[in-house]
Amino acid sequence: MLTKVTVPPWCATIAVITLYLLPLAQLAFQLASGDLGPDPAKRLMQGTGEWGLRGLAIVLLAAPLAQRGWRSLFRYRRVLGLSLFFYISLHLLLFAQVYVGWSGALLVEELKERPYVLVGFSAWLALLPLALTSTNRARRLLGPLWRQLHRLIYPATVLAWLHLFWLARSDLGEALVYGVVFAALLLWRLRRAQLRPR
Ligand code: HEM
Repeated sequence: MLTKVTVPPWCATIAVITLYLLPLAQLAFQLASGDLGPDPAKRLMQGTGEWGLRGLAIVLLAAPLAQRGWRSLFRYRRVLGLSLFFYISLHLLLFAQVYVGWSGALLVEELKERPYVLVGFSAWLALLPLALTSTNRARRLLGPLWRQLHRLIYPATVLAWLHLFWLARSDLGEALVYGVVFAALLLWRLRRAQLRPR
């Protein structure tokens, strides 16, 4: 007779975090072995940015999948959200350290040359309160305000996409695919919010 093995929730959480952080470990390994090509800083920016974007798509996908009976992702949306915020914060730190060396004057120069950085930064700022209020305690304390605050996911997604679109220049394919996926997922959420009884 087969016995059902139940995995403790903390084990599953650690497994999800480990899986999602594997690409970062790969980037670190490639950096250490000098395998990141002629411009390692650029590759690191691309890697962290891409996994931030993918994380955003995965988190947004959790609710529609849960509605169709697949609840596994939904259970881990908080840890996935925090992990994607970690990638984007690393992306921001890399920019501050490698591109502008924490210098205000260089930052002004970079912003003139790459205005899309400001859009990316706004996306990060919109995600920050979500990360800071992701605990059960914050949810309890904020009550109905919590749900309203977490609507910041909409502007954060739009800004993140704009950042990508602006950057894409000649190669628009990836930006367009993300555009369609994000538009579909945000529209689904908006429709669900309208249908929800007040
Ligand atoms: C939700 C927030 C963000 C997301 C999803 C994101 C995503 C990305 C992605 C995917 C790329 C690579 C695009 C490509 O080359 O194909 C990228 C590049 C870049 N990002 Fe972000 N980003 C975000 C926030 C930021 C922030 C906060 C900054 C800095 C303050 C920033 C600065 C840059 C820069 C400078 C590049 C270009 C790197 C290069 O090609 O040299 N991004 N971002």
